[in-house]
Formats: sequence, C-alpha cells, structure tokens
Amino acid sequence: MYLNQKDGWIEVICGPMFAGKTEELLRRVKRLEYAKKNIVVFKPDIDNRFSENEVVSHNNNRTKSVNIRRSKDIFKFIDDDTEVVAIDEVQFLDEEAVGIIDYLASKKIRVIVSGLDKDFRGEPFSFMPKLLSLAEYVTKLTAICVECGAPATRTQRIVNDKPARYIDPIVLVGASESYEARCRSCHKVYRKPNPYKGQLK
Ligand code: TMP
Ligand code: MG
Ligand code: ZN
Repeated sequence: MYLNQKDGWIEVICGPMFAGKTEELLRRVKRLEYAKKNIVVFKPDIDNRFSENEVVSHNNNRTKSVNIRRSKDIFKFIDDDTEVVAIDEVQFLDEEAVGIIDYLASKKIRVIVSGLDKDFRGEPFSFMPKLLSLAEYVTKLTAICVECGAPATRTQRIVNDKPARYIDPIVLVGASESYEARCRSCHKVYRKPNPYKGQLK
C-alpha cells in the first residue's frame, strides 16, 4: 500500500472527535516499532488532557511522546537517522508545521499526522486543508452520531447543555464533557450565518 521507504511521504489521519484518529496513529506507530524503525512521536503542548508526555487515545491506548510548543522544536528531537515522525493533534501546531512536515517528507522521512479536519463550527480547522492537499495518503475516519447513529463527520461542542455559538473561540481543549460526534444533519451551531437561506425548501 505504501511507497518504498527510500522515499518520504505524508500520511494524514483526520475526522471528527471520537472517530479513533489517535488509535489509528498509535496502531501505525506500534507496527513501525515492531519493525525497529527509528521513530519520534510528537504532540502539541496545548493538549495535556490525559498526559504530559504521552499520546493517549479516548480508549486509553498510549505511547511516549515529545511535547512541543512550536513546530520548529521538532528539529531539536530528530536527526539523520530518524525514519518516521508521528504527530498527534497536529491541528494545534502553528502554521509553520505545514512547511516543516513537507520538508521532512522531502528528506525521506515518513510523516504520519492525525488531527481534526473541521472545528466545532464544521469549518476547516486552521491549516489542515493545506496538509490534506500535500499528503500522499489521507485517511478520513468517521465516528457515530450520538443523536441518530449515522456516521458522524462533525464535532458538536456543547456549552451549558446548548450548542456552542459561532463566534466562540476555536480552541477549547476537552473530551466528552464538552464534545459529541454528530452527522451533518444533527450538527448544530448557534447563530451560524447562512448566506443561502431560502434558496431551497
Ligand atoms: P481528539 O481529536 O483527539 O478527540 O481531540 C481534539 C481536541 O481538540 C480536544 O481537546 C478538543 C479540541 N477541539 C478544539 O479545541 N476546538 C474544536 O473546534 C474541536 C472540534 C475540538
Ligand atoms: Mg485524539
Ligand atoms: Zn445524526
């Protein structure tokens, strides 16, 4: 399935929350560890939900990671022998991450990243569209809509039992106390402007 390891490439695992993105990243990392690949796992400092120096999935699967504050810090922890770089929650890094990830791939490193493709408003998350277009491989996972059981492609943010407002800040670290997986029709954003309202019944 994958290109020859003589080349580098970018793999993106994306989707809403509770879709198993981190689980899938960890599955790929574990396989590469069995294959004795030289691998470094990163995560942005912002997400210390479950652990300071580990990547942890909602199912409590985990692996050691390096917390980085800026995407440039990646260079401090890799060297000429690094074969694989993995980054969880990549959407929380600064935009320079895109160029750095692309550079690593051009240096024959396999870069595996996972992150949210959309924010709670259902809009593209930060630089993720750029990363998705540069990637050789994209895996878009779905969760299950808590309202109707359909495949969920969106993340619903709930504040005080109500859908979050469109103007609320994009970043709010959390898990099931503030977020739910929802399908397109069950996903709600309070006061989201809709320029096409009335165009179709
Ligand atoms: P997860 O994808 O591993 O479940 O984690 C996503 C993290 O992103 C979680 O801490 C909640 C946060 N988040 C935001 O900050 N803004 C958003 O719009 C969404 C959907 C999630
Ligand atoms: Mg995750
Ligand atoms: Zn639904």
